[in-house]
Amino acid sequence: MPDIASSVPISRAKETCPSAATASGPAAGPGGSPAAEPAPTVPLLEVRGLCVTLPTARGPVQVLRDLSFSMARGQTLGIIGESGCGKSMTALALMGLLPEGAQVSGSIRLDGQELTTLDERALCALRGARIGMVFQEPMTALNPLHTIGRQIAEPLRLHRGLSAAAARAEALRLLERVRLPQAAQRLDAWPHQLSGGQRQRVVIAIALACRPDLLLADEPTTALDVTIQREVLDLIGELVAADGMGLLLISHDLGVMAQTVRRLLVMYAGRVVESGPTADVFRRLAHPYTRGLFAARPRLGLARGTRLATIPGRVPDLAALPAGCAFAGRCALAEPACSAAPPPLVEVGRDHHARCIKAAGTP
Ligand SMILES: Nc1ncnc2c1ncn2[C@@H]1O[C@H](COP(=O)(O)OP(=O)(O)O)[C@@H](O)[C@H]1O
Ligand SMILES: [Mg+2]
Repeated sequence: MPDIASSVPISRAKETCPSAATASGPAAGPGGSPAAEPAPTVPLLEVRGLCVTLPTARGPVQVLRDLSFSMARGQTLGIIGESGCGKSMTALALMGLLPEGAQVSGSIRLDGQELTTLDERALCALRGARIGMVFQEPMTALNPLHTIGRQIAEPLRLHRGLSAAAARAEALRLLERVRLPQAAQRLDAWPHQLSGGQRQRVVIAIALACRPDLLLADEPTTALDVTIQREVLDLIGELVAADGMGLLLISHDLGVMAQTVRRLLVMYAGRVVESGPTADVFRRLAHPYTRGLFAARPRLGLARGTRLATIPGRVPDLAALPAGCAFAGRCALAEPACSAAPPPLVEVGRDHHARCIKAAGTP
């Protein structure tokens, strides 16, 4: 598998919420919308100039650099990039779950509400209720000491105010919705009695319980068997479309992205280096890094023994990034100007940008 298939474990901040997947806040209105509808022009999610610096043994390291993107209500957005490019940090920043000591600047707005200045209590209220999360390893999101039914019913009782009986009935409905086999019996099962794929279905059910506006899925199928991966992704795609939720999907799998998300962000060394409609990004491959990722993707039908192309070199050390383009050291097209100054964001098509001086004029 190429480098992009690997993924570093998610570092979590000390969570004060009972469970990030189940924590929730004030009851949402029908369809998960708050009582007062915002003006239609306000994006569901707007990230502007987001920078995150983490303390490390070697001093502070900037892991996210000037990240800006926005998502409309119901939009699907994907983030791709090799391991260590800042995909998970982006997800954790949105949830307010960055490692302890993280310094954040810039702005993250959900329906116009600034999240970077919220305290832990207010963030806890948002997680689950407004933003549902599905991470790579379902076991970390589930409490091994509680039955499946209880874990789904808890947010329903706490935040949607359902009675015990109504919450159990709704938990069963949710388990059936995520197509967990023998859902009724499984209500009283423990997480360890389920397979990885079944556990991830339960996590998705919990994420959907409070009808969030945004589903954030970070490599949701990487820990699952290949045969199950497609089923779970199809399920996520279906549920998101049915509920009109926004989806922010992080995946190393370009095929998954092509099928699941309308817009794509390509990240490299903590920056977005290309963004645009998925079909246009794949057609144009405007940034040499995107081209490298595309060439390195595993494909069916390759003759045995065919070596996969990989991008030469390694992701640079974030603590010692070069002054110019961070990709220049690995880029076949690099010229002296690339190392002199950070490349500007170049418009290469409608709503399609690449941070590369060579991208301009690419057909
Ligand atoms: N707890 C941490 N402290 C310091 N640096 C970290 C921590 N967790 C991750 N990093 C670094 O942050 C960068 C981005 O990581 P991450 O967002 O997890 O990458 P991705 O999800 O794209 O694989 C990496 O260089 C990683 O080494
Ligand atoms: Mg990651």
